[in-house]
Amino acid sequence: MTYEWGGEILERSASGKVILCGEHAVVYGRPAIAVPVSDLRARARVRPAPPGSGLTLVAADLGEEKRLRESPPDNPLAAIARLTLAHLEAPEPDAVLTVLSDLPIAAGLGSGAAVSVAAARALAAYLGSELAPDEVSALAYEVEKLHHGTPSGIDNTVIAWERPVYFIKGEQPETFTIRAPLQLVIANSGLVGSTRQAVARVRRGWETERERYEALFNRIGAIAKAARQAIERGDIHTLAPLLNENHLLLVDLGISLPDLDILVAEAQRAGALGAKLTGGGMGGNIIALVEPTTVAPVTAALQAAGATEVWHTTVG
Ligand code: PMV
Repeated sequence: MTYEWGGEILERSASGKVILCGEHAVVYGRPAIAVPVSDLRARARVRPAPPGSGLTLVAADLGEEKRLRESPPDNPLAAIARLTLAHLEAPEPDAVLTVLSDLPIAAGLGSGAAVSVAAARALAAYLGSELAPDEVSALAYEVEKLHHGTPSGIDNTVIAWERPVYFIKGEQPETFTIRAPLQLVIANSGLVGSTRQAVARVRRGWETERERYEALFNRIGAIAKAARQAIERGDIHTLAPLLNENHLLLVDLGISLPDLDILVAEAQRAGALGAKLTGGGMGGNIIALVEPTTVAPVTAALQAAGATEVWHTTVG
């Protein structure tokens, strides 16, 4: 199916993201660091439609098209459209809202939050308003709850601000500066991971072995704190082993998979300074911290090890 935009169109976009460190422990109040991946984006476009037609929602990647008024409450695109209209106290416009995304779904790169942020921004702009980062973040958080149940809010925050964030659940997120750009290679295992299930698995572990899990969360939180200091100093050689250790702690939490461990090991063997799974786990992506000279060998090693997609991005 191809989509012609035609007519007057208005476009807004939102970046993807990766969690550098602290995932899962962040659900239990420890800090985590997420950074935007500005090269991979979700886009939303709005164009006018004939009077009386109401709002039509098109998820182009999924080949889905539906009227807002016929969409169930748990449809994420309908949910963000309804939340945005309610927030702006605006009536449903006669328009077509189309979303398209470079981001793989359910892979830990923030696809759901990026689509929500782009859609809210585009719809608001069509109605003559620009949403501030904290406004659009709050709207996207409501939709994140549909995806994940009890999300920490890190995805919608980093994507709405499109800045590195040091995030503690329930606290005002702190954005911070990356002193020396980080070169990351991101590789998709091709396995679809359910963040909801991964979070539930950690919850079961924590309920049965509370002391061990609390100790793991404490160490992950300490890594996030040290990682922020290293990033602010531009010290990737301190950052890298923290990422490696964070991966092992996620293995201990039970949310890695052999395929993810192989990708991490292959990236390290090919010269990555550090590597770990990113996001919910049990599938999805790994990230590798590299230097300009190791982008090519690490990419090749990850492709040879079975990664279905590999991207290189510079953060900061
Ligand atoms: O799978 P993602 O990228 O949405 O990341 C989830 C991060 C968790 O810490 C596992 C859950 C959360 O809500 O923070």
